[in-house]
Amino acid sequence: LEQRGKQADYFPPVKTPMLPADTFKGKVALVTGGGTGVGRSITMMLSQLGAEVTILSRKLDVVKKTADEISSTTNNNVLALQCDVRDHTCVRSCVSECITEMGLPQIIINASSGNIIAPTERLSPNAWATVVDSTLTGTANVITDVGKRLISAHQSAVFLNISAAYALSGSGYVTPSAAAKAGINALTKSLGSEWTKYGMRFNAIALGPIFTKKSAVLREEAFRLLDTAGEFQTHLSERISIGRVGETEEVANLACYLVSDYSTYMNGAIVQFDGGEANFMSGEFNQLQSVSEENWDMIEDKMRRTK
Ligand code: HXC
Repeated sequence: LEQRGKQADYFPPVKTPMLPADTFKGKVALVTGGGTGVGRSITMMLSQLGAEVTILSRKLDVVKKTADEISSTTNNNVLALQCDVRDHTCVRSCVSECITEMGLPQIIINASSGNIIAPTERLSPNAWATVVDSTLTGTANVITDVGKRLISAHQSAVFLNISAAYALSGSGYVTPSAAAKAGINALTKSLGSEWTKYGMRFNAIALGPIFTKKSAVLREEAFRLLDTAGEFQTHLSERISIGRVGETEEVANLACYLVSDYSTYMNGAIVQFDGGEANFMSGEFNQLQSVSEENWDMIEDKMRRTK
């Protein structure tokens, strides 16, 4: 599914950490959704750069395997905990365990989310609640629990939330996810104003298409039936102006920058990370890129002669 446009050769992904070694030495990070996909890559890079990381996921076997793989690669401690972020009591006990084992985190990254690709009229109240609670409420549960403890301890911290590019435009067929991610953007900006007095800053990354096993399966499932002519495969890379889908390690490099001391001037920002997709899709004349030189000659000629 992840086909490339010709221009993609100009924009190869770099997957190695850009920050200096030991950037996060002595720091404790908490990453929700750290078992797979974007959360896993972020955890790997934080750990490569010296952080001790606690990762939370609903699936204990998945998160444990990830923690083992990462700590054996980086030689840094990774703690895996089972947590349904929708449940604030579960969040509270996991944060307590993180504090006992590693300390109160200075870096908090919310990467867990739920999504159902479906016509909105097919969603039951529970389906709606499942997506919104695992995305927006889960993020709020983690931020408020850790935030209150940070305030009591007079400790500063940086928060990063994973949002979606479609939170701004909205998107059909992922309506609860779009609404929840828009909520995450508002949460990020609100607390980026309110809690700086406690030494906390907040940013979000609004992701466009990123290649993960799960997103590839979701896309494939959702579009397979529509896509008998292979049209969507072509369309995906054609929507993205750099001509390819993003890689999780690229997100990790941006995430690490945003939670490092190199970015202390960044606060309340929603960083669009989509290969130029949103601008490209909304710019009225961008589709003209497929017009040939000969046709431009004709168009120019006609336009110059039109008085
Ligand atoms: C309609 C559905 C459904 C579907 C589940 N439900 N799938 N309704 N269409 N395809 C309904 C169920 O019937 C149930 O409602 C309710 O949703 C909860 O379902 P459960 O299976 O009990 O919930 P749970 O296992 O807790 O969560 C299901 C899930 C979750 C929300 C689908 O597994 C999930 O989020 N998976 C995807 C995770 C993921 O990919 N996250 C990253 C997203 S990436 P009733 O009324 O019957 O009880 C991303 C970027 C965009 O978001 C990527 C685009 C390709």
